Amino acid sequence: MCGIVGYVGYRDVVSVILNGLTNLEYRGYDSAGMALQDCGELRIYKTLGKLINLKNELEAKKYELKHPSSGIGHIRWATHGSPSLVNAHPHTCTCGRLVVVHNGIIENYKELREELIKKGCKFKSQTDTETIAHLVADEYANSKDLEIAVRNSVKKLQGAYAICVMHKDTPDLIVGARKHAPMVIGLGEGENFIASDIPAIIEYTKKTIYLEDNEIAVVTKDKVKITDINGKELVKKTEILPWEPVALSKLGYKHFMLKEIHEQPDVIRNVLNGKLYDIDEPVILNEVKLDKEILKNLNKIQIIACGTSLHAALAGKYLIEDLAGISVEVEASSEYIYRRTTTDSSTLVIGVSQSGETADTITAIKQAKEKKAHVLIITNRPDSNMARLADSLIPVNAGIEVSVAATKSYSAQLISFYLLAIYLAEIKETVDKQSLKNLKHELIQIPSKIEEILSDLKPIQNCARKFSSYKNFIYISRGINLSTAYEGALKLKEISYINATGYPAGELKHGPIAMLDETMPVLAVLIPGGITYEKILSNCEEAKARNAKLIALTSSNDDNLKNIFDVVIKIPKVNEILSPALTCVPLQLLAYYIAEFLGKDVDQPRNLAKSVTVE
Ligand code: G6P
Repeated sequence: MCGIVGYVGYRDVVSVILNGLTNLEYRGYDSAGMALQDCGELRIYKTLGKLINLKNELEAKKYELKHPSSGIGHIRWATHGSPSLVNAHPHTCTCGRLVVVHNGIIENYKELREELIKKGCKFKSQTDTETIAHLVADEYANSKDLEIAVRNSVKKLQGAYAICVMHKDTPDLIVGARKHAPMVIGLGEGENFIASDIPAIIEYTKKTIYLEDNEIAVVTKDKVKITDINGKELVKKTEILPWEPVALSKLGYKHFMLKEIHEQPDVIRNVLNGKLYDIDEPVILNEVKLDKEILKNLNKIQIIACGTSLHAALAGKYLIEDLAGISVEVEASSEYIYRRTTTDSSTLVIGVSQSGETADTITAIKQAKEKKAHVLIITNRPDSNMARLADSLIPVNAGIEVSVAATKSYSAQLISFYLLAIYLAEIKETVDKQSLKNLKHELIQIPSKIEEILSDLKPIQNCARKFSSYKNFIYISRGINLSTAYEGALKLKEISYINATGYPAGELKHGPIAMLDETMPVLAVLIPGGITYEKILSNCEEAKARNAKLIALTSSNDDNLKNIFDVVIKIPKVNEILSPALTCVPLQLLAYYIAEFLGKDVDQPRNLAKSVTVE
């Protein structure tokens, strides 16, 4: 949730850390802070709110700095203790000589805090993190060795942490440790980096080492030493990052979200590439490591995910059940983990996650593995914790997604589900060859159809302008586009803070219709040619009879729609089963333009974080 960057080396330390934090700002932005080793001094700067405040503070105080040679920085997404200056990281021990930044939650911090207070430690904040500072300082008092002090301390911590620690007495040395929270080391010549995620360091190096749970890293400018929890030195694999720094640039778009929406055609081509290259040939999904005989007899799939990934999962359920005839349950990870599930060794459990770091989903995956299920992970981060837990891994290759609201990763997940559903249908022979061939033919055309939508944004911008002052919306659909209705409503909520609810159209009359009047627009996703079109249309008539304003998102050419709907947003002609890959795009854009008209912070909406590493 929070972002961490540490640096030791010859560059301008303040700039390296600020750049790194800028690229991590999607992880949190309640407050920010930095500690610098500066010619024998340990200097600490903290500001409330977004990173720009820390940048301004450091600019204003640069006269104080002599020549910083190392430092650690942090941006916070508050968990324990409100967003305030005193709760901002870095946190210090009582004497102020030791500093810590932390991502995660320490579950036993209250007990530790009480013990440390008894020993005379003076606490200043309400955070769990400050406990770590006092704990390590207490250990350091005994060992006078920061590495040993950190190792002894983390043995006492319960919960999740990625930490970086510095001590005034040991200049230009950062000790990092992790458990259930990501941490990566960046390797350079005469410099080294440590961070909670790779966007923080990609501008400087592509050579990385991923720290695993219970490992400790000692980072100086010339050396990185990694040990296990018992102090045994480990030989770790150096990995070369596949991403270019350009992924972190807006490339002329006003916001990352808009850029990422426009990247979707290429992202989808990328997902299809190598998996569906000839419609006469079966889909190639070598990533699925289950034997074809097992897949033939597979009759239970459970998909677990959170947020936007959960909506992709819902579309996946419709697809797999429809095409492959396998029963699929979809559940929010946060629900799955607190009940008795029917997962067993014959279940295929699919975890879906953009970040691969969402704590609820990781816990759910671990539980599924304990029950001996085969776990398939669909993620945008093949380097993530979730990917490491996978028995089968489908990387969606959407590239780094910076905007907190997920767009291109959603499309990439959706397309992965199309491929998986067709793959299973081909193995199980549940659909005739010609129908599958037609479907594959249309699937390949999806990117160009999205390009068509993106080539004329006026109708969506006009709709956004017309409806930006409304405070409540209902998004309805039936069948496979119910997932689109949920996702469209979530996008609007996330970035404009307007109340929007996704609802099955047929359920409108069982409750929500009571709320309908001229102040609550109803947006309907309806695709002709399928079995739901006429039914949704009737549900819209029911809403119109209650004076609700109506918006249609459709591929229909029926001129009559103008008599029913206040606005009709048209998309290219598409088969209903493939339509979610198109219908999601105008709804992303509608949310984007409404938020933009309202002057909201589109890429970093309040209270949200892109990667939620706490349960
Ligand atoms: C956070 C983000 C959402 C995201 C959800 C699941 O809440 O703000 O945009 O959909 O986490 O994240 P994941 O990385 O697991 O897909």
